[in-house]
Amino acid sequence: MKRLVSGIKPTGEMTLGNYIGALRQFVNLQNELTDTEFYIFIADLHAITTPQEKQTLRKNIKTIAALYIACGLDPNRVNLFIQSEVSEHAELGYIMESTLYIGEMERMIQFKEKRQTQTEGIRTSLLTYPALMAADILLYDADLVPVGEDQMQHLEITRTAANRFNYLYGETFKEPEGFTPKTGARIMGLQNPTSKMSKSSTANSKDYILILDDLAVIKNKIKSAVTDSDTRIIFDKENKPGISNLLTIYSALSSLSIKDLEKKYENESYGTFKSDLADVVANELAPIQKRFNEIINSKELDDYLDQGRNNAKKIAERKLKKVYNKIGLGRK
Ligand code: TYM
Repeated sequence: MKRLVSGIKPTGEMTLGNYIGALRQFVNLQNELTDTEFYIFIADLHAITTPQEKQTLRKNIKTIAALYIACGLDPNRVNLFIQSEVSEHAELGYIMESTLYIGEMERMIQFKEKRQTQTEGIRTSLLTYPALMAADILLYDADLVPVGEDQMQHLEITRTAANRFNYLYGETFKEPEGFTPKTGARIMGLQNPTSKMSKSSTANSKDYILILDDLAVIKNKIKSAVTDSDTRIIFDKENKPGISNLLTIYSALSSLSIKDLEKKYENESYGTFKSDLADVVANELAPIQKRFNEIINSKELDDYLDQGRNNAKKIAERKLKKVYNKIGLGRK
């Protein structure tokens, strides 16, 4: 049986970027890959690489858990769990820190970007973050890791870690493959279409769509998305980043390719195009929001998280023991 592993950080609520780049892929793959076990977690240990308020963190963890199910993950098919509840993640994270080099961590784009905006009080874990991510993946001998484009560099370092460990201590880890969606691996901001849509990097809430935003608010955000003074609805990332991003979102959420959309809107205005896209996004998110409200306070949610944790723990324990033995830690 193959294994698929992925996670989402509970820092703020989930964006349309997270949904299109990651979560939607999890759901599609769950239905396609019948020969694969799924381990999907809430990466709460990763969240504390930057300061988090306690009550908010707790709330966000539960929100992501409920959203996983509301978006269509079947908790009886997929092992859903909270990263910190399987302590082997942190333990193997330390082993990965003892496998990877500081220079390799410092070269990570996400770290370099954060470093530029913040000079003081950068937590050590922000630097060592990729080591923990490598542990998350290697702990389960994952074959496949679906992520958005921004995580591909972290996946590369995971492969480096697996390789180096295997070289040093003998064959132990599997090298995983990354998987990004064909359309929508990098959804851009609605106000700043040259930077990634992100819940944390911008103070302007019109730049991102949250999965749980009120539908009227979502429609308004799309209608006020930045475009350009040209009138053609064509994909041209360089010269028309705003329209190109909207075309990407539209295509990712419909059965129409970008080419189909260019044709469909050949003689239409930006206004009509945006209005149709607003409907497409709202129609996608309305049933998710409804299910979310049914699940968020249900007892089943905790049961699913217990069940997922227990299954994950069994594999993680066995793997970590093997790793310690290979290195020569402790007694036999
Ligand atoms: P995080 O929480 O920042 O994002 C979760 C997932 O959403 C994708 N994503 C996007 N995709 C397209 N467009 C965007 N604008 C966009 N923004 C985010 C991310 O690429 C990611 O797939 N380090 C990870 C969480 C993690 C993880 C793991 C993932 C921890 N351990 C092990 C896979 C395997 C992160 O911070 O994702």
